[in-house]
This record gives sequence, C-alpha cells and structure tokens, in this order.
Amino acid sequence: MNSEIDFAVAFSAPEKVKSDTLICGIYSDHYITQSTADINRAIGGQIKKVIDGGDHSGKVGEVKWLYSVEGINAKRILLLGMGDKVSHTLVEFKKSAKAAARALHKSGANNALLSIPALLTVENEKFQRLIIRAFVESSREELYKYEINAENRVKNSKNKTLKITISPAERSQLKTSREALNEALAIADGSNLARTLGNLPGNICTPSYLATKTRALGRNHKSLTVKILTEKMMEKLRMGALLSVSKGSSEEAKLIIAEYSGGTKKELPIVLVGKGVTFDSGGISLKPGSKMDEMKFDMCGAAAVLGTLQAVRDLKLPINLVAIVPATENLPSGSATKPGDVVTSMSGQTIEVLNTDAEGRLILCDALTYSERFKPAEIIDVATLTGACVVALGKHASGLMSNNDKLAKDIITAGESSGDRVWQLPLWDEYQSQLDSNFADIANIGTGGAGTVTAACFLSRFTKDQRWAHLDIAGTAWVQGKDKGATGRPVALLVQHLINRSKK
Ligand code: BES
Ligand code: MN
Ligand code: ZN
Repeated sequence: MNSEIDFAVAFSAPEKVKSDTLICGIYSDHYITQSTADINRAIGGQIKKVIDGGDHSGKVGEVKWLYSVEGINAKRILLLGMGDKVSHTLVEFKKSAKAAARALHKSGANNALLSIPALLTVENEKFQRLIIRAFVESSREELYKYEINAENRVKNSKNKTLKITISPAERSQLKTSREALNEALAIADGSNLARTLGNLPGNICTPSYLATKTRALGRNHKSLTVKILTEKMMEKLRMGALLSVSKGSSEEAKLIIAEYSGGTKKELPIVLVGKGVTFDSGGISLKPGSKMDEMKFDMCGAAAVLGTLQAVRDLKLPINLVAIVPATENLPSGSATKPGDVVTSMSGQTIEVLNTDAEGRLILCDALTYSERFKPAEIIDVATLTGACVVALGKHASGLMSNNDKLAKDIITAGESSGDRVWQLPLWDEYQSQLDSNFADIANIGTGGAGTVTAACFLSRFTKDQRWAHLDIAGTAWVQGKDKGATGRPVALLVQHLINRSKK
C-alpha cells in the first residue's frame, strides 16, 4: 500500500554485498558487534575513528553517515545508535528503526542492507523475529503519509521506492525471517489503513463510507463476506440503544458485519467489535468547542478492527473472524436523543441516557448483543470510549478490562511482544452499582470516579455469558499537537493476538 519503502529477506555477507548503504549498529558504551568490527577492519578502522573521536555516542536513534568507504562493496555506511547493549528494549529499538528509515529516505539511497549481525549482539539474536518485525513495522510507520486516495495513487518515478534487504545471522533462519517479514508487512498495511481511515475528515469518512470501504476489503476475496445493516433493519432487530445515537444525524447509521473464514466450518469465531462514531459532537450534551475536531477520530476502534481484518485476510490466518462495526454520527438536532430519555437495547435492558456524550457504550451494547449469534469463542471490543482513560494511562498504553483472566493475560502478552501495549484495569462488581438508575435497568454514565471502569461495567452487562475483553484506546488511537494524526493502534496488538490464537 505505502510504497515508499520495500523489504526483502536474503542471506548475504555484509562486506561482499553490493548496495547503496550498509547499516551498522553503535551501542552507547562504544560497543560494536563482531560483524561490525569485521566491517570496521575492512574499511581501515573508520568506524572506530568516528566513535573514538566522539562523533557518535551510540544514543538510541542517533545517525551518522560514512561516505566513500573503501574495502567493501557498499557505497556508504549508516551508523545507527542502538542505546545500551544490556538494557535494550523493543520500544527503543523501534526508535532506532524509525531514525534509520528517516535517514535512508532523505538520503536518496535506492537500497540498503540490514544485516542482523551488524546490529545485534549474539545474545540478542534470538530476538531476530521480533527485531525484523519491529524494524519493518516502525519504518513503514515513520514514512506513512496521509493521502485521501492512497490506494488509487498512481506510481510514478517521483515516488521511488527504497528497498531494504534484511539478512539474518544464519542461513537456517531465512524461513523464520521471511515469516516475520510477511507478518510485519501485513501489520504495517493494516495499521496504515487504520490510520488513513482515522485521519479522514468526518464529512468524507461517514458511516456509509466505512461500509463501502469494508465491502472493498471483501472484493475478490472468497474468504471474506460483508453484510451491511441499514437503520430499518436495525429497527427490526430492536437496536434501540444504537439507533438512539444516530437519531440526531441525517447520515444513516450502518451496522457493518464482515465474516472471514480461514478456519474449519465448526471452529467458533473470534468476534472483534469496533466503535465507529464518525464524529462525536457529544449530541445534546454538547462537547466544548476546543479540539472538537479530534472527535473525527472517534471511529478509530472501527478503523483498527478493519485494519486487523485486512491483515488477517492477507496473512490467510487459519482462524474464523467476525468484524462488527456499529457506525454512526453523534450530533444534536431537533430529533436528537435528550438527557433523561429512556431507550430499550436489543438485549431488552432499558437504559436511561443521562448524558448523550456517553454514546460509545450505547452503540457497542447492541453490537455486542448482536455478536452473540455467532457463538463466539471470544469477543474483543475496541473503542475510543472515555476521556478518563487518557487521564489514567496517557498515550502509551491502551486500557484493558475483561471478564476472563486468561483472555486478559493473552492480550497483555500479545501487547508485550508486538510493542503495542495494554494495561489492565479492574472490573470488580463493586463498581457496578455506580450505574444504578431510578428510571431504567441501567444508566449510561456512572456516578463518581473510575469513568473508564464504569464504561466497561456498562458493556459487561451485555456480555455476561461471553469470554469478553474491552480495549479503551482513547489515549492511544491518535496523537495531538503538531504531529496530530491517527496511530493505527491497536492493529499490531490485535493481529499478534490472532496470530497467537492461530497457532493453538
Ligand atoms: N469519544 C469520547 C471519549 C473521548 C474523549 C476519547 C476524549 C478521547 C478523547 C466518548 O464518547 C465520550 O464523550 N465519553 C465521555 C463519557 C462521559 C460523558 C461519561 C467522556 O469521556 O467524557
Ligand atoms: Mn461522546
Ligand atoms: Zn465518543
């Protein structure tokens, strides 16, 4: 999709290979790997001179070029800061990878060789798979550009492609390296799809637009079928909660259902549900004006679920997956739902809408009830659900809540290995009474504190008999400020979780 940068895996000796650029790692205590030491010797000690002269500190992400090197077949060397050799983390490595991608892209190099032994110490080579994944995913992320019609872009000579060849430490690691590259590319494309959908303005990315894009994902893929429910069909299903959110808008709400079948017929599917509020004004409980534009990102849960679906399709994972996206706008108007209104959800439970800005849970609850018809092995919903989650966890971790500890553990593990991390919050019964209502079975907002938890408590009322986890991505789905834009999270986490599931 994003063709700024391409990758291949091949086994080649760094001194011998002909390429524009060779990448060598420099660690903060002046350490270089054996392979880099060999290259250093071949080029007359130039790398050591740079380090000893204090021109490269080895700090994470620091880059320095060595031009016109002689004694090897590469034209130049990119010295890449790797940080501390002992306490090196995946998060740090991703920073280095981004810096390398940025430097290579700016340099005008056509190709480069990333030789794993020139980057990693022998002890760290066992993480080769993770490192390949991290390098590919983060360099694609770094070079992502927002384009409305990314998929229609005509390739011309101006947007030339940088090709990076990754060489593993041993020939016997070619197969696993290729697997890692494949996964990384699918995850990168899925994340970039999620980012583009997230970044699209609300006047373009409407519920119907999301429906059209999902249909496109299924085109020419026999394993994927897409169904779109209209408001009329949702009325028949008595989805009173979902419809109460779309009432104020003239854009029609859609319930998008995509079924991917890569597993056997009798295998129960995993259901992913993504919040698709294409613009959240708050409704009659109108939000303040400042930064309200960012509420176009309120469909990032939906975007992540669709990005994940695309990646699973591309990887042909042997699992069954259902992606469900309730898509709607939340706007005030003469026909909008008002605070105090009572609506009946598809489950039959009545809800007192005390705040029309707590709309995410209203659309999710009907989607969750709907998902029961697939007899799911597990359900994971993904939503930019609460501002409180941004307060609690900021932008580094998504909030995780679950009624099943095993499922929660599996998601935490997938987060650690993909670098797209989550942090679990409690879902104790003690919080449930904060949702008590005098006029309905349940209120749509909780009294006093723990807004992220009470939102999850609300959802838990609709997933009682299911293995279910909820991801609050309000803090992780987009970044603010001068780099404002969608992050594509948590596509990497979800795909990792599904890869893990497919191996069971
Ligand atoms: N989409 C918002 C949550 C949100 C706010 C995400 C800011 C990211 C940044 C959600 O629909 C919402 O408005 N939630 C309310 C709930 C409250 C009324 C109980 C919130 O968090 O303020
Ligand atoms: Mn809201
Ligand atoms: Zn919202």
